[in-house]
Amino acid sequence: MQSRRTILDYKPDKIERHTLLELFRLASYAPNHHMKEPWMIKLYEDEARSSFGEKIVDSYIRLGLLKTLDEKKLQKARVSYDKFFRSVPHHALFYMEKEDGGGYIDDENYAAVCAFIQNFQLAAWNLGIGTMWTAKETLLDKVFIRDIGLSPDTHKLIAVVQIGYPNKVPKAKNRTSIQNAIEWINN
Ligand SMILES: Cc1cc2nc3c(=O)[nH]c(=O)nc-3n(C[C@H](O)[C@H](O)[C@H](O)COP(=O)(O)O)c2cc1C
Repeated sequence: MQSRRTILDYKPDKIERHTLLELFRLASYAPNHHMKEPWMIKLYEDEARSSFGEKIVDSYIRLGLLKTLDEKKLQKARVSYDKFFRSVPHHALFYMEKEDGGGYIDDENYAAVCAFIQNFQLAAWNLGIGTMWTAKETLLDKVFIRDIGLSPDTHKLIAVVQIGYPNKVPKAKNRTSIQNAIEWINN
């Protein structure tokens, strides 16, 4: 848990499918209420990476996240995003089906998928495989949700996680004292 790092820079080698399957299988031992096992995953690999990246950048533009860039800089940014998306062997989109329109059951299922993602990250790290959990407003962008073949009425996107062998492992970011987060209550 302490040695895992968010990895930005990956080796080009793909991870074997049976290894990824085993990591997802291990991750599925995450706690989940009523054994809903709400996690669903789309894996973007090979040629699918560029078009997935393009859809994400289109969403950034729609959401105004790149509005400071003029047309020339935007084209440059598109090229560098494409380079990034093609530099990562696997992009995993984690999502779930909505059950109660954003109510408590959806919160429970969302929490379970987050536990699944963290299990996956730790199991992967144990095999020397790096990940980067990303989440931006794009996950709420209805056009993006439709662009990837899902429905904003029935699906909730949770994270996009980059996966691959690390090329460079960044230094650890120190955490503050955990004592600050705890209130011991005895009577
Ligand atoms: C919900 C969530 C969203 C995140 N989104 C991003 C992101 O968009 N870009 C990014 O570089 N890292 C993202 N991260 C990773 C954090 O930046 C990273 O975990 C944090 O900086 C601590 O670094 P470490 O994971 O190496 O300990 C996200 C993590 C979580 C849990």
